[in-house]
Amino acid sequence: MPPSLYQATFEMKSFAASLILFCYTLLGLSGKAEANPTCRNIPGSAGFPSPGTWDALNSTVSGRLVKVVPFAKYCHSLPGGACTDEQWTSALFRSTIPGAMDQVNWEQSYDSTPPSLCLRNATTCGQGDVPLYSVEAETVADIQAAVKFASKHNLRLAVKSTGHDYLGRSTAAHSLLIHTANMRNITFADEFLIGNHSVGSAVTLQSGVHIRDLYQAGKQNGKIAVSGAAATVSPAGGYIQGGGHSALSPTYGLASDNALEFKMVVANGDLLQVNNMSHPDLFYALRGGGSGSWGVIVSATFRTFPTFNASTSIIILAASNNDAAATLATVHAQHIFDMDSVRGAQYFYFLKNSTDTNAPTLLALVSYIPNTTTSQNLAALTPFLNASLALPDISLLTQNLTYGDINDVLLLQADDSVGTNTVLGSRLIPESTYRDSPATVGQVYKKLLDGGSKVILGHMVAGGKVAENANISSAVTPAWRTAKAHLVLTNDWTDSASLEEIDTLRKHFQTEQLPILEAMSGPNAGAYSNEADPLEPDFKTTLFGPNYAKLSTIKSKYDPADLFIVAAGVGSERWDESGLCKV
Ligand SMILES: Cc1cc2nc3c(=O)[nH]c(=O)nc-3n(C[C@H](O)[C@H](O)[C@H](O)COP(=O)(O)OP(=O)(O)OC[C@H]3O[C@@H](n4cnc5c(N)ncnc54)[C@H](O)[C@@H]3O)c2cc1C
Ligand SMILES: *[C@@H]1O[C@H](CO)[C@@H](O)[C@H](O)[C@H]1NC(C)=O
Ligand SMILES: *[C@@H]1O[C@H](CO)[C@@H](O)[C@H](O)[C@H]1NC(C)=O
Ligand SMILES: *[C@@H]1O[C@H](CO)[C@@H](O)[C@H](O)[C@H]1NC(C)=O
Ligand SMILES: *[C@@H]1O[C@H](CO)[C@@H](O)[C@H](O)[C@H]1NC(C)=O
Ligand SMILES: *[C@@H]1O[C@H](CO)[C@@H](O)[C@H](O)[C@H]1NC(C)=O
Ligand SMILES: *[C@@H]1O[C@H](CO)[C@@H](O)[C@H](O)[C@H]1NC(C)=O
Ligand SMILES: *[C@@H]1O[C@H](CO)[C@@H](O)[C@H](O)[C@H]1NC(C)=O
Ligand SMILES: *[C@@H]1O[C@H](CO)[C@@H](O)[C@H](O)[C@H]1NC(C)=O
Ligand SMILES: *[C@@H]1O[C@H](CO)[C@@H](O)[C@H](O)[C@H]1NC(C)=O
Ligand SMILES: *[C@@H]1O[C@H](CO)[C@@H](O)[C@H](O)[C@H]1NC(C)=O
Ligand SMILES: *[C@@H]1O[C@H](CO)[C@@H](O)[C@H](O)[C@H]1NC(C)=O
Repeated sequence: MPPSLYQATFEMKSFAASLILFCYTLLGLSGKAEANPTCRNIPGSAGFPSPGTWDALNSTVSGRLVKVVPFAKYCHSLPGGACTDEQWTSALFRSTIPGAMDQVNWEQSYDSTPPSLCLRNATTCGQGDVPLYSVEAETVADIQAAVKFASKHNLRLAVKSTGHDYLGRSTAAHSLLIHTANMRNITFADEFLIGNHSVGSAVTLQSGVHIRDLYQAGKQNGKIAVSGAAATVSPAGGYIQGGGHSALSPTYGLASDNALEFKMVVANGDLLQVNNMSHPDLFYALRGGGSGSWGVIVSATFRTFPTFNASTSIIILAASNNDAAATLATVHAQHIFDMDSVRGAQYFYFLKNSTDTNAPTLLALVSYIPNTTTSQNLAALTPFLNASLALPDISLLTQNLTYGDINDVLLLQADDSVGTNTVLGSRLIPESTYRDSPATVGQVYKKLLDGGSKVILGHMVAGGKVAENANISSAVTPAWRTAKAHLVLTNDWTDSASLEEIDTLRKHFQTEQLPILEAMSGPNAGAYSNEADPLEPDFKTTLFGPNYAKLSTIKSKYDPADLFIVAAGVGSERWDESGLCKV
């Protein structure tokens, strides 16, 4: 999701962050691992490596093994004894620290007995769900050594590029981490070869490269690749394995529709070249089959296109109460196809800073349209704006237009603002809902807002080429191909929330919000696995649809011992929530 909007909302102080928290449950571990041979080795288990054995791994990886420190503790070690607010909220800064996650709740273990927390201003610090050791990988050999070590010693393994993950999948308690943040090569090719066949121009990104690095290099090379509306997400890390949506998706499809090849280290330590001719089954899985379940990506190659100019508009409307916001949502639904002919994409965020039904809701709209000027952009939005501003209780707060190289337009700012306790829940909304029953949309928004939901994020990044690509053979759930938007609800809390409040909030999407949202999505609808609730009870269907059985078979072939297990990922049904013991 575009950081600009978070920025905008922070600037307007409209995120008086709600008061509670969540967590992704970790099991109480005491003694269980030792007694049960189906558990991973943890400190205290007979099979856990000795200090000397860790030292030997450290030599193998040229001294790049580190003990992982939770982020808040790392902050305490800085001169002055604290991180600044800028450091705390900077995704760029966090990406350099092995113990950091962007949503800080994933660093905590709320459910262990006692809870193991490392909060910003606390005087004590537990390791929580932060890994024990990390290999700060710089080479393929580093990754291979770490994978073999984890396998040989039956360790819980985690893989991280940036720590952006909304499901907490790039951290794990008692684990060895493979951190690919330092692998940052970018290589353009005019004629990328698969076998001996050229598939045209492409860019190869190592898995530590950030989106902003891609866009900056793309501009210099006159190329654009399909990637996200963020600065610091890793395109060749979690983003691509989830499928990857983009403001360019209505024009060029999902990022995974444009992936040509991967280099990856699989569970047996082999480095594989993965494309449509070599390991095509794994190639299928890596494009939408879920982040973190397949191995360690060294690099991914994406198709590129010549750059072009594009326009963006940032428009913020205010609805003075929930009824007005609901009417606005209906009007928005009626106009959601307005930009189809120009392949526009739009992020539409309903944001409130209060649970009062008579308090205002903001609708922030960021609309991207390729090959258009700012006035053409505004013209495309005018029917919607006119209809909205004709309503009572709706006003226009700001309107800002930009134009230029698509790489610049997509990179609205240099960093992403993170560092909160946040969980998500989501559904892909079928195009048919918007086409056939826009009034339902308003009714759903009304119920969500009346129920206290403060953030309803809309990503209009489907339709167009995403739908046209329906017959591409990849693991992307077919729900994407018939969707018009992905709707994401967030629930967040501050560090003062009680464990009970946190527990309620982490279940809030399933218990309170989803039953309302299903009037729009339909029952058993799909969700985008990178922006989802890890507690989805039927994650196989929700995140992977009819592809799960095939993905499960591919998983058994490349990772027969389940070395790569993540929340709501393929094979995770065989493991407890911590990924430490088989169930
Ligand atoms: C500010 C922000 C904006 C976003 N914008 C978009 C957007 O526009 N479009 C979109 O589709 N998504 C977006 N997302 C979601 C994003 O795609 C996911 O958070 C994604 O998982 C991030 O991948 P990462 O590698 O950067 O994060 P990480 O937390 O490092 O990893 C995420 C997952 O990928 C795995 N992984 C990481 N590196 C590797 C590797 N080298 N090999 C194998 N597995 C690896 C991890 O194990 C984990 O499962 C956004 C997220 C944020 C926080
Ligand atoms: C909430 O948002 C409104 C504008 O929508 C603003 O006037 C008000 O100051 C905000 N309140 C807080 C507490 O941030
Ligand atoms: C690994 O070796 C390096 C270099 O000798 C050292 O600085 C580092 O502390 C070692 N890591 C661990 C976990 O001992
Ligand atoms: C922690 O302290 C800083 C000042 O050092 C303050 O700005 C911040 O709000 C506090 N954070 C929490 C979560 O209490
Ligand atoms: C990254 O690029 C540098 C410079 O071209 C090269 O020396 C290095 O081998 C590359 N790394 C990998 C892992 O390919
Ligand atoms: C590619 O071409 C080379 C030389 O022409 C040949 O030796 C090789 O077998 C070819 N590879 C493939 C995958 O076709
Ligand atoms: C692989 O992709 C290339 C380029 O699109 C295509 O020419 C080739 O037929 C494909 N091969 C297979 C086995 O699908
Ligand atoms: C933009 O316009 C140029 C020139 O007409 C064209 O070649 C290119 O395909 C267009 N790109 C998009 C994304 O529409
Ligand atoms: C929008 O409203 C303006 C001002 O009322 C009017 O001039 C314009 O024709 C309207 N445009 C559309 C597309 O309705
Ligand atoms: C509009 O956006 C540009 C580019 O991001 C920024 O420099 C400018 O300050 C913005 N203007 C307003 C009024 O927000
Ligand atoms: C793209 O926009 C830049 C200004 O941002 C302008 O100098 C350039 O001429 C434009 N290119 C095209 C092809 O319109
Ligand atoms: C996908 O293939 C089926 C069967 O060949 C065809 O009926 C359908 O129109 C295709 N869909 C798209 C979007 O091309």
